Amino acid sequence: MRTEQYFKDKVIIVTGASSGIGLASARLFGSLGAKVVMAARSYDKLLSLSPSVGSPENVLCVRCDVSAESECRTMVEETVARFGRIDILVNNAGLSMRAMFKDLDLKVIHSLMDVNFWGTVNCTKYALPYLLQAKGQVVGVISIAGYSALPARTGYSSSKYAIRGFLDTLRIEHLKDGLGVLVFAPGYTSSNVRNAALTADGSAQGETPLDEGKLMSAEECAERLAVGLEKRKSELILTGLGKATVVAHRLFPRLTDRLTYKFIAREKDSPFK
Ligand SMILES: NC(=O)c1ccc[n+]([C@@H]2O[C@H](COP(=O)([O-])OP(=O)(O)OC[C@H]3O[C@@H](n4cnc5c(N)ncnc54)[C@H](OP(=O)(O)O)[C@@H]3O)[C@@H](O)[C@H]2O)c1
Repeated sequence: MRTEQYFKDKVIIVTGASSGIGLASARLFGSLGAKVVMAARSYDKLLSLSPSVGSPENVLCVRCDVSAESECRTMVEETVARFGRIDILVNNAGLSMRAMFKDLDLKVIHSLMDVNFWGTVNCTKYALPYLLQAKGQVVGVISIAGYSALPARTGYSSSKYAIRGFLDTLRIEHLKDGLGVLVFAPGYTSSNVRNAALTADGSAQGETPLDEGKLMSAEECAERLAVGLEKRKSELILTGLGKATVVAHRLFPRLTDRLTYKFIAREKDSPFK
C-alpha cells in the first residue's frame, strides 16, 4: 500500500525514537528514504541505534525531554538548521502507569500529563509554522485508552483523551491550510512501555503484566502508521479488540465499563485484588 515515493526526502521528526513504536517508525521511515530526526532523552542510545535508521547524512539525533518546552523548541530549531524543513511530526514519546487513583501520589499524573500531553503540545507548537509551510502532517500517538478509559491508568487515559481533544481542535483550526492531523491509536503493542510504567509512588513498574510476545509488534504498528500517513487519514484505530472497544464505548458505555472491569481484573497482579 505505502510507497517509497511518499516518504522519500520527507523530513520526519519522531519523538520517543529510542525504543518500541518510535524506533520501529524511525527505522521504517529511514528505509523509505526519509530524513529522520530521532528525539528522546537517552542520547547515547539514539546515537547507537541511528545506523539502523539511516546513513549519518539522513539521520539527526537530538536529546530532548518533551516535557521541557525549551528542549522542544531547540529540537525543532536543530531540525530546521540541519534539514531546512519539517514535513511530518510524530508525537510518539509516552509514559504509562499502573495504580489505583486512591493509592496514587499525584506527581504520577503530573508526570504523565507533562510527557504525553504537554510533550505533544510543546513539539507541535514549535514545529507548526514549518508543518504549515510544507502542508505537512502532525501525528499524536494516543491509545485505545484515549477513547475508552482503562482502570489503574487515570493519568494515562486522561493524557491520551487530552491529546485527542487537542489534535481534533487543531485539525479544524487548519482545515483550509492543508495541514494533516492524524490521531493514531495503537492497541496493545509489544514494547518497553509497561516496564517503564509508573506505580503509585512514581517508581517504574519494571515488569509487564502481559505476554508481550502475543501483542502486535512495534514494526507492524509502524507499518500501519506509515499507511495512515500516506492516506492522510485523520484517525486510525488499531487491532480488532481496539476497534470493538471504541465502538462499544460509544454505543454501550455502561456495559463497556463492566467488560473493562472484568478484563483488567483478569490481569496478572490485578489492581482490583
Ligand atoms: N505499547 C503499547 O501497548 C501502546 C499502546 C498504545 C499506545 N502506545 C503509545 O505509543 C507510544 C510509544 O510507546 P512504546 O509502547 O513504544 O513505549 P516504549 O518502548 O517505552 O517507548 C517510549 C519512548 O518514549 C520516550 N520517552 C519517554 N519519556 C520521554 C520524555 N520525557 N521525553 C522524550 N522522550 C520520552 C522513551 O525514550 P527515553 O526514555 O530515551 O526518553 C522511548 O523512546 C507512547 O505514546 C505510548 O503511550 C503504546
